[in-house]
Amino acid sequence: MSASAEMPYFIKPSINLSTEEKHQAYQEAQAGIDANLAGETSPMVKMVTINCLLKTFLPYFYWTGFYLVENGRLVVGPYQGTLGCLYIDFGRGVCGKAAIERKTQIVPNTHALAQGSEHIACDPNSLSEIVVPVFNEKDELIAVFDVDSTLAGSFDEVDQAHLERIMIHFKQSGSVIKTLL
Ligand code: SME
Repeated sequence: MSASAEMPYFIKPSINLSTEEKHQAYQEAQAGIDANLAGETSPMVKMVTINCLLKTFLPYFYWTGFYLVENGRLVVGPYQGTLGCLYIDFGRGVCGKAAIERKTQIVPNTHALAQGSEHIACDPNSLSEIVVPVFNEKDELIAVFDVDSTLAGSFDEVDQAHLERIMIHFKQSGSVIKTLL
């Protein structure tokens, strides 16, 4: 069962940002993430904190969350948003492609993809998407970080750079990450 097109009262449609506004918003989010996760070792605590602070500062982050690698497939993990699909096979959808390729995927228009294979529409309001692979300290894939926007073209190389830097929290358990950007 997927989410309906009607948005629940607590979820708002996306608002896109300019490049300058993006950098400012990510710096505020990253400051909170780095401060709250300094010395933190629990992946679950990291995931819920990252979801919360990114959704707080980035107004185009509609569905924001993690899919965890479990028994050779992706299983829904901590997220904020409408009902997300529970399981995704490697290679299916944007998440499955990010997992197989171990590379960030940016989709300007999810409706241009083959539905059910290239893209899995958990929510019909999703119009663009970014998925970032998450690696542990042994460079093993442990999850993918998935963000949907209700607007086309919300994500670009600025989002990729900032989100890949934030995901370094999972490679350095307990250490403080220097700002790389
Ligand atoms: N759109 C993703 C599926 C996850 S829902 O968007 C939360 C995909 O195509 O893999």
